[in-house]
Formats: sequence, C-alpha cells, structure tokens
Amino acid sequence: MKKLLTSFIIIGMIFSIGAGKKKQQSAKKTMNSVFKGFLGLVPYMNSQMKFKDPSNKEEIHTHLTTLKNAFDHASHVKTFSLPGFNPTYEQAKTHLKETLEAFEGGQPDFARVRLRATGQLCISCHTQLKANRGSFGPLNTLSRKDFSSDYDFAEFLFLIRNYRKAERYFDKEINEAFEKTRKMSKINRTSVFAYRGNKIENSLEKTLTIHTKVKYAPEKVLPIVEKYSRNKYLDSELKGKMEGWIAALKKWKKSSYKGKIKDSKELRSFIDQNLAKYSDSFSSFDGRNDIDLLVASGALYHYLYKKPKSKDTPEVLYWLSIVDEHLNKSFLFSLSELYLKRCITDYGKTTWGPKCYRTYRDKISHGYTGSAGVFIPEDEVNELKRLKSFLK
Ligand code: HEC
Repeated sequence: MKKLLTSFIIIGMIFSIGAGKKKQQSAKKTMNSVFKGFLGLVPYMNSQMKFKDPSNKEEIHTHLTTLKNAFDHASHVKTFSLPGFNPTYEQAKTHLKETLEAFEGGQPDFARVRLRATGQLCISCHTQLKANRGSFGPLNTLSRKDFSSDYDFAEFLFLIRNYRKAERYFDKEINEAFEKTRKMSKINRTSVFAYRGNKIENSLEKTLTIHTKVKYAPEKVLPIVEKYSRNKYLDSELKGKMEGWIAALKKWKKSSYKGKIKDSKELRSFIDQNLAKYSDSFSSFDGRNDIDLLVASGALYHYLYKKPKSKDTPEVLYWLSIVDEHLNKSFLFSLSELYLKRCITDYGKTTWGPKCYRTYRDKISHGYTGSAGVFIPEDEVNELKRLKSFLK
C-alpha cells in the first residue's frame, strides 16, 4: 500500500513537473499577460484626451510595461520561433520598446498612434490561428459599452479571434453608416449622397479576411458582398472594388482549391496560378486584387505552420513578403521586409537567398529614391552589407 502510494506521488510529481515546464513555455501564458496589459490600455487608446491626461500617466505606463515585458520574456516560447510567427514576434518587441520610450520621452500622441498600430501585430499572428469563440474567462471582461463605436468593438473582437461576433458588429457598423448617409440624402433632397469615410471598406475587408484567409469559405461571404454592393449610397470607387471582389469570390468558389496546400507540387502550381504576376513588381494593384492575396496569405501561412522545416520555407517567406507588401497598408512597419530578412539570414545559401536579398535591396533603394537620386542612409547600407554576408 505504501509502495503504491509512493508511486502515485512520484507519478504525480512527474506530471506536475511536466505540466509546469509546459506552462512556462506556452504561448497561452504569454498571451494572458499581453492581454492583461492590452486590456488595461483599451479605455485610453481610443481617446487622445484620456491618453494625455497626466493623472492617467502612471496607470498607462504600468500597462504598457506589462505588455512590453510579456513579449520580452517570451523568447523561449516555441510557437513564437516558428517561421510564420517569428518575424511578427521580433517586430512586436521592437515596436513596444519604442512605444514605451516615446511615452516616457513625453510624446504621448506618438505613443498612442503606435499603440493603436500594435493591433495589427496581434492580428498578423492571430489570423494564422483557428478561431477562438472567446466566450469564456478574461476574454469576456469587455463588452460593447467599453468601446466608443460598433466598429471599435468589432475590431477588438476580431483581434481576439471571436470572429462570429466580430462579424455581427462589422455588419452593424456598415448598416449604420448606410443609414446615416440615407438620412443625410433625405435632408438635402437635391442629390443622393455617397457614403464618405473608410469604416464600410475597413469592415468589409475584415469580414472578407475571416472568410478567405482565416476560414476559407468564399461561398459564405459572396452573398454578403453582393448584398452591400447593391446599396445606392455606395461611392463608385468602392463599388468598383466590390465588383472585383465579387468576381474573384465567384472564381474561387468554382476553383478546385479547398483552402489548403498539401505538398510542394501543389504549392508550386498555386504560386504559378495566383502569385507569379506579383513578383518583382513595384506597380501598385488596387484593392480589386485583395481576395486573391488574402486567399494566398491564408494558404501560405497554413503551409508554413504545418511544415516549418520543409525546403520550401524560404520560397514561402519570399511570397509572404510579396503578399504582405500588397495587402498591408500600414506605414509604421512592414512585415514584408522582415520576411525577406528571415529568408536571407536563415536560408541565404539556398537558391532563394539571393532572390530575397535582391528584392530587399531594391525595396530599400526604391524607398530612398528621390528627385536627386538614391541616398541610402549609413545604417541601412550597413544592414545591406550584413545581410549580404549570409549569402556566401
Ligand atoms: C508573435 C505572435 C503573436 C502576437 C504578436 C500576438 N499574439 Fe496573441 N496569440 C498568439 C498565439 C500563438 C496564441 C494561441 C495561444 C494558445 O492558445 O496556445 C494567441 C492567443 C491569444 C489570446 C487568447 C488566449 C487564450 O487563452 O487562448 C489572446 C487574448 C491574445 N492572444 C491577445 C493578444 C494581443 C492583445 C496581442 C497584441 C497586443 C497579441 N495577442 C499578439 C500569438 C501572438
């Protein structure tokens, strides 16, 4: 009996050590701290006045520090070392460090802009994961009344991967925007107003992301876009874009692609069919191409997640950088460059290393080209040298 008890205790100890170790290395634990910091900042993020109010300074500082430290202390988390997550992880660390510095350095406006942009980093990782119903625990502590608009709440829900509910609030936002425009037109009578602003487009883009990149179901989102596209308060530019989306969704609905790329062969043909035309190009595509890019983004991330060590990784990183370049409109940071850097530093000796390097170099010199020629700052010149050394 005593022996049995001892072995129970030993087994119990082994299990608890195992569990402890696992806990220490889990993304979940990090995310709980990240979320705690982020949650504390939500009430201030959406208001310039509150963010600048000296009496809130200490509290904002505490939450910002929590957020930054959570990422800093997560270098050992395995998920964050995967090739799909790692560039975003590194970017999050730098971004939050600089945000905290801006706040401490007496630049609250700048810090707030940066903090709001942080959401894009959360989204960049989370849209690579499956949905989270989010109807439990800490994820449920905020509700609509904590946000100033349906749109802000919808964005928050999108960020924490509660996609079903996010979609409902994006839909509400769109309908309200149309309703307001209708009322304005009625008052003015002389002409029909078109909706001005970007909430409708942004809401639609997130809704499309859910059904193309995260959960691949073009047939589900097609009727939604079709319905909105018939609204007479839509301006002609967005209407044109939506026609492009509708055509693309119909194409994907009919295609043999079912939301996943299985192997190298399928990867190759997917790229040939859908991405080749974006290669090495600085020409800008209008938003009509968004659907193809979103589907590709989902497909590539999924492939990377399933096969992080395959020989296709540098190629996938290269294409992710191209896709991000065209999809992401943020000017604060570009994941596109980070994917290229990763392709160079980790896969410099493969055939993709030099291609990634050339693309990165051209991007940089393109960015520093003005009327008087190309002036690349010294630290960027050094970075190019450093990167080039990985190719040999
Ligand atoms: C480097 C990638 C990455 C970034 C950046 C990131 N997350 Fe996460 N997040 C994850 C992963 C991976 C999970 C899934 C963890 C799990 O369930 O194991 C997750 C899950 C979560 C969850 C759900 C936790 C749970 O209990 O399932 C919350 C909440 C969350 N993240 C908040 C945030 C917020 C807020 C930000 C931005 C400030 C953010 N995350 C940025 C990778 C990231």
